[in-house]
Amino acid sequence: MENKTSQITGLATKLKDEVTRLEAALQALGAESPSFSQNASPELPRSPDVQLAQNAILECCTELQALVEGPLENLVRITSPRMNILMALHAIFHYNIAKNVAKDEEVSFEEIGQRCNMDVDDARRLIRMAISFHIFQEPRKGFISHTANSAVIVDNELLYQWIGLVCDDMWPNGPQLVPAMKKWPGSKEPTETAFALTNGVGMWEFLKENPQKAQRFARGIQFLQNHPAFDIGHLFTSLAWDVDCELTIVDVGGSHGAIAQALLDRYPSLQIHVQDLPEVISGATVPSQFEGRLHFVAHDFFTEQPLKAGVYFLRSILHDWSDKYAVQIIQNLIPALEPGAKVIVNEVCMPEPNTLPFYLSQLIRGYDLAMKQEFNSKERDAEEWESLFQLADKRFKLNRIVVPPGSILAVVEFVWQPETAEG
Ligand SMILES: C[S@@+](CC[C@H](N)C(=O)[O-])C[C@H]1O[C@@H](n2cnc3c(N)ncnc32)[C@H](O)[C@@H]1O
Repeated sequence: MENKTSQITGLATKLKDEVTRLEAALQALGAESPSFSQNASPELPRSPDVQLAQNAILECCTELQALVEGPLENLVRITSPRMNILMALHAIFHYNIAKNVAKDEEVSFEEIGQRCNMDVDDARRLIRMAISFHIFQEPRKGFISHTANSAVIVDNELLYQWIGLVCDDMWPNGPQLVPAMKKWPGSKEPTETAFALTNGVGMWEFLKENPQKAQRFARGIQFLQNHPAFDIGHLFTSLAWDVDCELTIVDVGGSHGAIAQALLDRYPSLQIHVQDLPEVISGATVPSQFEGRLHFVAHDFFTEQPLKAGVYFLRSILHDWSDKYAVQIIQNLIPALEPGAKVIVNEVCMPEPNTLPFYLSQLIRGYDLAMKQEFNSKERDAEEWESLFQLADKRFKLNRIVVPPGSILAVVEFVWQPETAEG
């Protein structure tokens, strides 16, 4: 009989090799092996060796789990425990449970009920759900203490805000996606979305009417920016920003200028104008070290671009808008463009089907659906990026698409070439 390695044995062998590689990479850095101890580091070191092994392990585990569960159990798991953990996180956020447990203390459920002003039985049941995901532990019956996964909720305020944003403002929209698709088939309007069905208005209007929610949304984005896959550093590995001449960049929809500041920090010859809506710009300040080089300008990107620059940079902007509106945003740049000017989009470039490991695919497909439910917009693939800019104007030439290793965002670079226009 042919001795053929089964799929799960192949995965398990690879898993073992990758775990060995990870341990060696951690040891070389003097870092601890991962654990659930409350004092454990909230993330693995962001070194290339660690991240390569880490990704390979997570890819193997995702496959192995689905195969070993088998189709039936896999679907049961998707439709039950994974969904229910959000109920527990929602309670942890609203009753401030994580912050009401000190590090190194064991607290009874009764005490938690009192501290958090919560029914004891509800507290017990919701926290035990969380415990099944390593968020808290029950070292002895009826008492809880922190794990690494609950401690990070206390230590990382942005994560805490992110949990609130997801549980309060994002999660309720999921069940409204199909009703919205039935009510407004094929709609590309930001006001005809799952979000609008849940909240009565589109997301942009909602944020305008609720400044506190807008602030949490901004902090949620800030949290995502800190994720290794969104790390600003990837931009520097894929683009040579330091140029001999004095380059001026306009960061369109650049919020409070986090990206601009990272660029200025690195490249002393740059001048950056950060544009955003007046209500956003009014909350922005120029740190003293960037005075004279960082400028905040109120500008609505649905109006004509007033500033001349070598590069127009759009990070996580166009994915918020369906093609109809994204084309307007791009066309509004044209009056300012000199031949050779670049429009650099820093966003997801959806990979071709079957090219991405499932572990990553789950994440990136989720982003695409989040865009759909919130804005009726989407994450675009290479063809869609090119055709979007061609639709805006044939004088845009796609120069390159680069996806830096480890990054979820691509750099999609267009050059304004009026002399090569057809017709
Ligand atoms: C997803 S955020 C991206 C922010 C920033 N580029 C980044 O990557 O951190 C989208 C940004 O677009 C801005 N925005 C939305 N509508 C706008 C408009 N009509 N004109 C200018 N900016 C707008 C928002 O205020 C927000 O800062």
